[in-house]
Amino acid sequence: MPQKTWDVRSYESQHDYVWKHGLGLLELLAPQPGQRILDLGCGAGHLSQKIAESGAEVIGLDSSPEMIAQARINYPKLRFMLEDARRFSLPEPVDAVFSNAALHWILPPDQAAARIADALKPGGRFVAELGGKGNIQSVLEAIRLVVPNFDNPWYFPSIPEYGALLEQHGLEVTFAVLFDRPTKVEGEDGAEDWLRMFASGILGSDQQALSRVVELLRPRLYRDGAWWMDYRRLRVVSRKVS
Ligand code: BEZ
Repeated sequence: MPQKTWDVRSYESQHDYVWKHGLGLLELLAPQPGQRILDLGCGAGHLSQKIAESGAEVIGLDSSPEMIAQARINYPKLRFMLEDARRFSLPEPVDAVFSNAALHWILPPDQAAARIADALKPGGRFVAELGGKGNIQSVLEAIRLVVPNFDNPWYFPSIPEYGALLEQHGLEVTFAVLFDRPTKVEGEDGAEDWLRMFASGILGSDQQALSRVVELLRPRLYRDGAWWMDYRRLRVVSRKVS
């Protein structure tokens, strides 16, 4: 599948909940002054900046040229790398790898897990949040009715599945939780905006298909005058043991 391109302006203005929800994950990371931390899938760099404010040395990595360009504009003092999470390597290992709302985009997940493990010092931590099993179930079901044979571009694992994957790469899971996070998207056109931003690889510019998906979603996701995407998050903390 070709690399997704991002409309960064809309991402920054209408979908800032993506990084704002990651603020809670930073508490699990608890970055310390002097630590070296990789922010994998850093997007426009907002959480990289929060990590840097703790006194840690941060490297932001993303495979999107548009996102990395925006991150460099937003935070010119930070270091950002344009790299694929399935192939990168670092000159020196890091104390922690942090990742918010990125790993569900990276297929096959095994390749990203291998690179993450390789990037860590022994004892180093991997702290991540991604869409978990059941994430955007209504959206997937509605898209499947309109585009029956679409290739699912996302990976939403269960706790046992992701735990097993990390363990295969020498990462011992110390904490994992799967939880619902209904996520409000602003405006009457919230679901349509969401589909345009995140599902353009499936629906393209087919307005008819997009409108049909929105109407299928309305009874499930539109309530009290707002759209709520049926997000389910998987959070994990793990440690490199071998
Ligand atoms: C998510 O953050 O769960 C997500 C975002 C876009 C597409 C799929 C999932």
